[in-house]
Amino acid sequence: MKSIFLVGFMGSGKSTIGKQLAKKLKLNYLDTDDLIEQTANKKIKTIFAEDGENVFRDLEHQVLTSTSDLGYVISTGGGIVERQENRAWLSTKQVVYLKTSWETINERLQADQDRPIWQDQSRDKQLLLTKRDSLYRDIAKITIETDNQGVDQIVDQIYSIF
Ligand code: S3P
Repeated sequence: MKSIFLVGFMGSGKSTIGKQLAKKLKLNYLDTDDLIEQTANKKIKTIFAEDGENVFRDLEHQVLTSTSDLGYVISTGGGIVERQENRAWLSTKQVVYLKTSWETINERLQADQDRPIWQDQSRDKQLLLTKRDSLYRDIAKITIETDNQGVDQIVDQIYSIF
């Protein structure tokens, strides 16, 4: 079976849903953020702090384009759509967009300490969501609204499509 790539903003549930979906479809599971941390041998927070966002985005591109198009459910980082090359690469794949409202994201990430973009006070995250929302929609084959559904329901919905 062809790999399924999950995209969506920080806090949209890509990892939680990805793991359950992979189990249900009997596919392997990968998370691009985990692969980046393994490649760099550093936490994402540390890569941003020591090397900067550009180095992180280079690693993210490298890791994404090395993933297999067969046999995986792959959760991607929320900023995967920032680079045009990633959008072009993903637009030929089975991409599922987990669409989540600003209110839900804001509530979920209230206590988050690990996401440098979320912590960056100089950025307007709500505006970033609006901008990325259209990028996610452009590359996705399927969009799932996650706000009023539990994890099991979302997984079942994606499962029934593939
Ligand atoms: C980022 C999202 C994070 C991680 C990094 C940058 C972003 O992934 O890749 O902190 O630019 O939105 P999650 O979407 O899994 O939080």
